[in-house]
Amino acid sequence: MDLFEYQAKGLFKAHGVPVSLGEVAETPAEAGVIAQRLGGVTVVKAQVKVGGRGKAGGVKVAKTPTDAEAAAAAILGMDIKGHTVHRVLVDPGASIEQEYYISYLLDRANRTFLAMASYEGGMEIEQLAVERPDALARLPVDALVGVDAAKARQIVTAARFPESVADQVADVLVALWRTFVETDATLVEVNPLALVGDGQVVALDGKVTLDDNANFRQPNNSEFEDLAATDPLEQQAKEKHLNYVKLDGEVGIIGNGAGLVMSTLDVVAYAGERHGGVRPANFLDIGGGASARVMADGLDIILGDPAVRSVFVNVFGGITACDAVANGIVTALGMLGDAATKPLVVRLDGNNVVEGRRILAEAGHPLVTVIDTMDAAADRAAELANQGA
Ligand SMILES: Nc1ncnc2c1ncn2[C@@H]1O[C@H](COP(=O)(O)OP(=O)(O)O)[C@@H](O)[C@H]1O
Ligand SMILES: [Mg+2]
Repeated sequence: MDLFEYQAKGLFKAHGVPVSLGEVAETPAEAGVIAQRLGGVTVVKAQVKVGGRGKAGGVKVAKTPTDAEAAAAAILGMDIKGHTVHRVLVDPGASIEQEYYISYLLDRANRTFLAMASYEGGMEIEQLAVERPDALARLPVDALVGVDAAKARQIVTAARFPESVADQVADVLVALWRTFVETDATLVEVNPLALVGDGQVVALDGKVTLDDNANFRQPNNSEFEDLAATDPLEQQAKEKHLNYVKLDGEVGIIGNGAGLVMSTLDVVAYAGERHGGVRPANFLDIGGGASARVMADGLDIILGDPAVRSVFVNVFGGITACDAVANGIVTALGMLGDAATKPLVVRLDGNNVVEGRRILAEAGHPLVTVIDTMDAAADRAAELANQGA
């Protein structure tokens, strides 16, 4: 889960990283009040989960509370790389002498953690890495040792920070490492870490990605969930512990096992080319032991998607045999009653397939078509979606 800047800097602050952090506003008037309270020059910053806000006009300096109000009015509602701005952060304005860059991230390819640092911050790191690779120090960090004072010194030296700020930056690096570990992050980035007028080094921007796999031991993480940005169907699926991703097509997909669902998406997209360009509407893996309840929950979510015009249920019976799946489908359709309105194409194969198909045939539900092969079933589902247009 990616965090907003104000959330990232909140975590930094809680773990001892010096930050410039004001307050968040949702209206221009609120921004004005915050600027008044902070006093002096403020910086009004778009809170969107994308970099390059400065260049896009999403970061504005305000000399007075009236300026801050005007800046917030200009920034709120702005579209930055496809992200609409709903909130601004009103920060105390810093007088910047130098901008540096520091980050830690999980380096999957090298199976380690990585520290990156540069005395040339401000620029987007991808650009810095391409244009001035020498200016970007990259040092692996041993997970068991972490970043202590000695390691921090090593990073500072490798990144050629001036001696005048070396101690301060080293302290920040240790505190940032603590943030990284204690929050179970996979990325913490400070860009810029700024040397400001009074000689202090502070984080002016913050980017944090938390590892969702650690949510069970990070009970506070739920407060970071951005419900406004979560697709309501994905939210509903999450509450039911379903592995669902909304896509933008018309053929609803239910399968068991991520691999089977992925290949189902492919065959449906391919079949769609023959049927008006229809495409898969979602990814939904109901997993191994799919009960009638899980099948009903899955169907409920897919049928609740107004874009869906047909549904393709593609199940390979394994641990849960086809007869259980077939009973699940019949029961689920019974549970849904009139809520089930769209045609279903079902392809069953694997363990106990004959019995499974018999159960579906016997139930004879008017919305269900049983087709034996994956390609033919995908073709029929795409055809039905196209007819339903
Ligand atoms: N509190 C602040 N005071 C002064 N300047 C700031 C402040 N926050 C950001 N800036 C300036 O704006 C630039 C862009 O802001 P930043 O938060 O890094 O957004 P982004 O990385 O999305 O462009 C910074 O590099 C810095 O020069
Ligand atoms: Mg930045």
